[in-house]
Amino acid sequence: MTVDATTSDAPRHWERYLAKRTSGMKSSAIRELLKITQLPDVISFAGGLPAPELFPVREIEEACSYLLRHEAKMALQYSTTEGHPPLREFLAESLSKYGIHYGPDNVLITTGSQQALDLIGKIFIDPGATVLTASPTYLGAIQAWRAYEGEFVNVPLDEDGMCVERIADVIKETPVRFVYVLPNFHNPAGITLSEERRRLLVEVARKHDLIIVEDDPYGALRYAGENIPPIASLAPERTIYLGTFSKTLTPGLRIGWVVAPTELRQRLVQAKQGADLHTSTFDQMIANDIAQRGILKTHVQKLRQVYGDRMNTMLDAMSEFWPEECSWTHPRGGLFLWATVPESLNAMELLNVALKRKVAFVPGVNFYPNADGGHNAMRLNFSNAKPDMIVEGIQRLGLTLKETIVK
Ligand SMILES: Cc1ncc(COP(=O)(O)O)c(C=O)c1O
Repeated sequence: MTVDATTSDAPRHWERYLAKRTSGMKSSAIRELLKITQLPDVISFAGGLPAPELFPVREIEEACSYLLRHEAKMALQYSTTEGHPPLREFLAESLSKYGIHYGPDNVLITTGSQQALDLIGKIFIDPGATVLTASPTYLGAIQAWRAYEGEFVNVPLDEDGMCVERIADVIKETPVRFVYVLPNFHNPAGITLSEERRRLLVEVARKHDLIIVEDDPYGALRYAGENIPPIASLAPERTIYLGTFSKTLTPGLRIGWVVAPTELRQRLVQAKQGADLHTSTFDQMIANDIAQRGILKTHVQKLRQVYGDRMNTMLDAMSEFWPEECSWTHPRGGLFLWATVPESLNAMELLNVALKRKVAFVPGVNFYPNADGGHNAMRLNFSNAKPDMIVEGIQRLGLTLKETIVK
């Protein structure tokens, strides 16, 4: 016999047992939206998905076969919380090329960088404690830190990134546990924090003794311009740096990493022990094999070319098909751009109309931690759809916008 959960009143009854903090937990708007956009004929600019046709499937298959044939006893076994030592060595070495000079002992492998954000919440955020972010900011971070009953204060973004010169004023009013920064090709805005601002941020952080969380999933995906020094290279003593293979290899492996000063890294290790003991040994060894064989490097070069072309295709199509009342950012890398439509329009309502035309984006309001902006903005992803679909989708959105603006 089975119990029909849909007719049972049990869930209502359980409410009273749930922890208070669950009242602040919401399903991510993007995860919900992705369910609709996965319908076969929808052109989706909504998720942050890499192009699946580019996944290095054969190379991953070779890595799996090799590991199962030669290293199965290690690959299928429990391992240390800190992560697979050769992978940590590889990461420490790669980061040193960007001026981040930490050894493998300062690296912790995480189950995606999303887990790193969660662990950061776990070690820093008491109920009611405040985090300083740009506004807008990454939705997944808001979701992770709300679960620890965190609050948010913000500074705006402009074309040079987060307005870090405003931080001193904000923290005078509200002390913060840390400052969250997306330095390269910001999610959702596609903007990069200028070198001048990075240096200023470090100055402010030193003056006020602040911790910086630098989340950098897109740094390797640069399509124009020169690399800018990571904040962790300028202020290693106070920066927790996050990276991931999700955008440069595949998100399915769930391999991310944190690099942090020794004491903080130790706290994160303890927090991770209670979460999942360690990240999948097998997945770490696959990623390590791909990285050590040089496949990752070639793959990233290919991604830069393909995604750079897709980004330009989207930008060109927007210039051609969108009404002149709209504006958008011109990223130099990453997966997203941010468009602003006239004040009088509501991107949430626009999405409903767009979905009827089978095209999707994420309305801007979702990226504002205090829901105080972005009603007339949208995030568009350009890595997932192929160029002809990008043009078609942008044309459909242009039509939707023109009709709505005329009304
Ligand atoms: C800014 C940012 N941080 C963290 C993540 C989480 O990535 P993952 O957990 O797949 O490494 C994402 C994913 O889109 C992101 O955009």
